[in-house]
Amino acid sequence: MKRKFLIDTDTASDDAVALLMALRHPDVEVAAITVVSGNVPLAQGVTNALVTAELCGSDVSVFAGADKPLFREAEYAEWFHGSDGMGDQFYPAPQRQPEEKHAVEAIIDTLTTETDLEVVTLGPLTNLALALQREPSIAAKVKKCYIMGGAPCTVGNVTPAAEFNIWVDPEAAQIVFRSGLPIEMVGWHLCRGEANLRPDDIDLVRSFDTPYAHFTIDCNRTAQEANRIQSGEIGIPLPDPTTMAIALDPSICTERSNHRVEIETKGEFTRGMTVVDELNVAHDERNCDLWRPNGYNIPKASICWKFDVEKWKALLYSLLQ
Ligand code: BDR
Ligand code: CA
Repeated sequence: MKRKFLIDTDTASDDAVALLMALRHPDVEVAAITVVSGNVPLAQGVTNALVTAELCGSDVSVFAGADKPLFREAEYAEWFHGSDGMGDQFYPAPQRQPEEKHAVEAIIDTLTTETDLEVVTLGPLTNLALALQREPSIAAKVKKCYIMGGAPCTVGNVTPAAEFNIWVDPEAAQIVFRSGLPIEMVGWHLCRGEANLRPDDIDLVRSFDTPYAHFTIDCNRTAQEANRIQSGEIGIPLPDPTTMAIALDPSICTERSNHRVEIETKGEFTRGMTVVDELNVAHDERNCDLWRPNGYNIPKASICWKFDVEKWKALLYSLLQ
């Protein structure tokens, strides 16, 4: 039997590659794609998700969700992903339209009706937070929730303290991390350094000469240049695909441990920081196995610290050929 994924995404270039990986994986059925404001305005994210699904020959349902964070103004990352979010490739408009139903309803309905569903989030957590606020019981229905977000005990990519997805909507992230969902947090640090698609890797991918391979490199054109300017690293950083790789094959994460994670919502310099008590220095109830604010049992989140770069790239390549 295939595993079932629900993917929530602010679809731009690296999200698109992550979607492609799930849609092309033989052992996975994508039950729904829900789109949230983040990298690009909502309508553009929906278009990009549909374009990606069509490239993969998939008729998966795509749902539009929140067009801004819970309490804050929308923030975008077009400087990184291009004005269309897709490396300024300006792909032809998709044939299909999104579903009528709102993404938040789609999340609630899918999580309520499916069993053993796995959720993969690739954007700000607004849609998921709204769904959990409306129907808190869905947290217990999810088998695993893989979150691309945060920077555990390391550097941020939008401020020194924070990673984009959490920084955009920290209040939503706080709701999700306190919801009781069985979370595996995949931070931004994993996609750096050797995990980038380096120039040799890019040449190899191009040599596959499939539409999926060229799409992967083309739509990340501006991301590659923005990465060089921001971090000095030469290559394409793929945070969402590295998260998807871990969701598809959890053995790709080679070091993980469980900790209480708090999200900073008020800090002067630390908005959106993922505060991971790695050493249990707080010695308080946040580090109990089950913390119970509001009467809910809240497990600690699993943090993925290290992963197998060769295995991640091998999985990506297998899905691009
Ligand atoms: C995250 O932010 C977005 O720009 C990417 O799509 C990824 O989800 C990385 O910080
Ligand atoms: Ca994303």
